[in-house]
Amino acid sequence: MPTARDPHPLDAEHVLAMAAQSMFDTFQRTAMGTLVVDREHRIVWISDGYKRFLPALGHAEDDFVGRRVEEVVPNTLMGQVVDGGQAILMDLLTNQAGSFLVSRLPLRDDAGRVIGAVGFVLLDHPETTMQPLIDKFSRLQTELVAARRQLVEQRRTKYTIASFIGTSPAALEARRQARRVAQTDSTVLLLGETGTGKELLAHGIHAASRRAARPFVGLNIAAVPETLLEAEFFGVAPGAYTGAERKGREGKFKLADGGTLFLDEIGDMPLALQSKLLRALQEQEIEPLGSNRIERVDVRIVAATSRDLGAMVAAGRFRADLFYRLNVLPIRLPPLRERLPDLEALVETLAEDIARRSGLAHKPLSADALELLTLQPWPGNVRELRNVLEQATLMTDDAQLTPAHFAATLPLVPGAALAAARSEVPAATPAAPTRQALPDQVLALERAAMAAALAAAGGNRVAAARALGISRAAFYVKLARWPELTGLGR
Ligand SMILES: Nc1ncnc2c1ncn2[C@@H]1O[C@H](COP(=O)(O)OP(=O)(O)OP(=O)(O)O)[C@@H](O)[C@H]1O
Ligand SMILES: [Mg+2]
Repeated sequence: MPTARDPHPLDAEHVLAMAAQSMFDTFQRTAMGTLVVDREHRIVWISDGYKRFLPALGHAEDDFVGRRVEEVVPNTLMGQVVDGGQAILMDLLTNQAGSFLVSRLPLRDDAGRVIGAVGFVLLDHPETTMQPLIDKFSRLQTELVAARRQLVEQRRTKYTIASFIGTSPAALEARRQARRVAQTDSTVLLLGETGTGKELLAHGIHAASRRAARPFVGLNIAAVPETLLEAEFFGVAPGAYTGAERKGREGKFKLADGGTLFLDEIGDMPLALQSKLLRALQEQEIEPLGSNRIERVDVRIVAATSRDLGAMVAAGRFRADLFYRLNVLPIRLPPLRERLPDLEALVETLAEDIARRSGLAHKPLSADALELLTLQPWPGNVRELRNVLEQATLMTDDAQLTPAHFAATLPLVPGAALAAARSEVPAATPAAPTRQALPDQVLALERAAMAAALAAAGGNRVAAARALGISRAAFYVKLARWPELTGLGR
C-alpha cells in the first residue's frame, strides 16, 4: 500500500498527467483560440474560439485544418517550435488578422520525442489591451534615450578652455598653451598646486581637441589602492579571477579608446607600475591582466600633479624615462597668489555658480570684503576660494558679503588684516587700482600681504611665512626690504 509519505510512482505520474490535462484545459478555456500541429507542421486541430480568425486569414475550416501551418498563418513560428523542440512562452504575432499575444509549446511522446506543437492565442489586439504597459515602456524608452544624450552632452561640455577664468598674464598664458596642445595628440603634463584648475583645464583641452566627441576618462592614481592599479589601468581578462571579476573588466585605457585619459596625481604612481605605463604610452598597446594578449588602443594622455616630479626623479622615486615621456608639453598653472588681479573675476564666476547650485540669490562682495580676500595666502587656491565663498554665502541671509561674513573661515581676520594692510601703506590700497606701474603695485601688494600676515601671526615670522605659502628664507629676503614691518604684531 502506498503511504502519504511515499506515494506510489504510478500515483505521482497520474497526478502529473492530471495536472497537464487541467493546465491544458485552463489554457484552452481562457485563451481566445488554440491550434495544434503535428510533426510535419500540419494543422490537426483548432478550437472553436480559433475559428473566428479564419475569415481574416482568408480560409474556410476545411481548407485550413490539414494544411501546413506556414501556408495558412503568415509569420507563424509553430514550425520552428516543432523543429527545435523549444517553447516560445510569450510572443507577438502580427499578420493580416491582427496582432496577437501568443504562446507556443512543443508536444512530446512518452519517449520525449517531439510529435507536434500547441499554440494559444492569449490576447488579440494586445496593442489596445496592453496599451498602458506599452505606453509606459515607450515612455521609459524615450526618457532613457534623453538621459543618455544628456549624459554625453554633460561629459562633452563640462568645461571648455574658456572656463579657466582670469585675464592676468599668467592665466592668459595657461589658456594659450592649453589651446596649443589641444591641437596635438602629444602627452600633456599639468603642473600646479592643489586647487589651481588642473582638472578643469584637462577637461578643456579634451573639449578643444579632435577627440572631443570621444570619451574623457579620469583616473585619480592617489585614490586607488596600489594593488588594484594595474587592473584599473589595463583591465582584467575574462576568467583571470574567480568571483566578481570572473567576467573580466575593461581598464581605463580601453574605456578611453579614441579619447583622452586623464591621469590625476601621476606623482603617486608606484615605481613598479611606472615601467608598464611607459610601455603603454610608447606602444599604445596594453595587456589586460591574465590575458597574454596585446590590445591596441588610441589614447591621448593628460597627466597632472602637484608634486615636483623633477625632484622625485632626482630622489629615485620617479622613473626618469617616464618623466621625460610625460614632460613633452608641460603647462604650469599659477597659484592664486601669483595672479591676484584675477581674484575679482573669479569671485564673480564662483559666486554665480554657487548661487545657481544652491538656489540662493547671488550675493555680491563689498569692496573691503574683496580687499580682504586679496590679502589671504590661499594655499588651497581656487578650490579654497570657492569653499570660503560658499560658506559665507550659506551662513547668512544678508544680500551682500562684507568682511564680517568671512571672519569664521579666513586665516587672516578682517580687523588685523585690513588695519595692517592700510597702516603705513598709504600709497597702495590693493583693491583700488591706481595708475602706478605694475611692478610698484605688485611690491605694494606684497608689502601689504606681509604686514597682514605678520599682524595676524602676532609677529611670528615662521607662522606668517606659512600663512603666505612661502618659505621662511623667502620671507626674510622680502622682509629685508621693509625693515619697518619688523615690529608688527608684537
Ligand atoms: N581658473 C579657474 N577658473 C574658474 N574656476 C576654477 C579655476 N581654477 C580652478 N577652478 C575651480 O576650482 C576648483 C578646483 O579646481 P580643480 O579640481 O581643477 O583643481 P586641481 O588643480 O585639479 O586640484 P587638485 O590638485 O587638488 O586635484 C574647481 O571647482 C574648479 O572649477
Ligand atoms: Mg585635481
